[in-house]
Amino acid sequence: MDQGATGQYPQPVIDAMMNFATTGNAPVHRGLYRLAYDATSAFEGVRQQVADFIGARTANEIVFTSGTTAAINLVAQSFGRLFVDQGSEVLVSVAEHHSNFLPWQRLCEQTGAKLVVAPITADGAIDEQWVLAHINVHTRIVALAQETNVSGARLQDARAIADRVHANGGYLLLDGAQGLAHQAVDVQALGCDFYAFSGHKIYGPSGIGCLYGRQELLTEMPPVTLGGGMIEEVSIRGASWLPAPERFEAGSQNVLGVIGLGAAIDYLQPRRAAITSYCSTLTRQLRQQLAAIPDVQLYSSQAACATLSFNLDGVHAHDLATFLDEQNIAVRAGHHCAQPLMHALAVPAVVRATLGAYTSVRDGQRLVAAVQQAREFFGGESHGA
Ligand SMILES: Cc1ncc(COP(=O)(O)O)c(C=O)c1O
Repeated sequence: MDQGATGQYPQPVIDAMMNFATTGNAPVHRGLYRLAYDATSAFEGVRQQVADFIGARTANEIVFTSGTTAAINLVAQSFGRLFVDQGSEVLVSVAEHHSNFLPWQRLCEQTGAKLVVAPITADGAIDEQWVLAHINVHTRIVALAQETNVSGARLQDARAIADRVHANGGYLLLDGAQGLAHQAVDVQALGCDFYAFSGHKIYGPSGIGCLYGRQELLTEMPPVTLGGGMIEEVSIRGASWLPAPERFEAGSQNVLGVIGLGAAIDYLQPRRAAITSYCSTLTRQLRQQLAAIPDVQLYSSQAACATLSFNLDGVHAHDLATFLDEQNIAVRAGHHCAQPLMHALAVPAVVRATLGAYTSVRDGQRLVAAVQQAREFFGGESHGA
């Protein structure tokens, strides 16, 4: 029950990667032989597929990265260094994954800009009213999780935030690492300027992800990583860059990962609504059952569609996770790369179970039964009674 960290592979994803590895492997954009042309065309085909999947205007708006983390760091260090300066504000939330917090914290340290941090509501959602109220003419970038990784709460009205930030001359980045698995995404309808996601959270491989950026913005952005495959011309005096997206893809690319990502999108796209509906129902039921266990504290949102975050009073999250592991129940425990949120919740760590297409009702029953047993094992029954 750790789909939110990294998912297991559907068979078609394994098959596509195996097939490419055994019959199609070659460098892209480099070789002058048929195998390399075919690999390049498969690689570029996935770029178009991603563009269609998230509603980008053109495939040139899709940059392959190693994941959400690399995508957000790229925006912060390229776009951020261009558009943020002293007197600017960068607005994030306290519920952000470190991947969508640290790059902005560093950018603010580098530029003298102010990091403005939105709070969460009682249900663990980013307080969107607070965000709207705090966007002003100094706000250059708003960077928010479309779905947070600890509470599982989703942004309700990204469009309103996009409109407000645009009206003030700023830009919106959405961290789609958790959101894309659960909801259809149309970056144009959302109104975001950047959208980042990872393959391994949408049933694809790890080490591959994408940055969507509006073409006019990518065109202005300088590359951050320099190397092979991204230049127009290099001399001993200087260099010029290829247009986006190649400008941002220095070095040999994770072609196998891209192929797997394409197969994962093929798998997810026609099934996502059904998977989300199934997971939502199961998550709601399990949440009620966990809430009924004395001493269980819940940290995930009532509206979460696949996330159950909780603690057992008096038991460290790591001890509870280890107890569950002894029953072959794999959950995550810790700060979930969201230490500002842990501070806000005043807990050092929480246990998080996340559901995916392959999580069975029986898995859920076993989780609830094991948490009940853990309470007895750790002495909670006598303590709580
Ligand atoms: C909300 C959120 N953002 C960003 C990330 C980072 O993703 P990756 O490690 O694939 O770069 C994660 C991963 O857990 C996440 O849940």
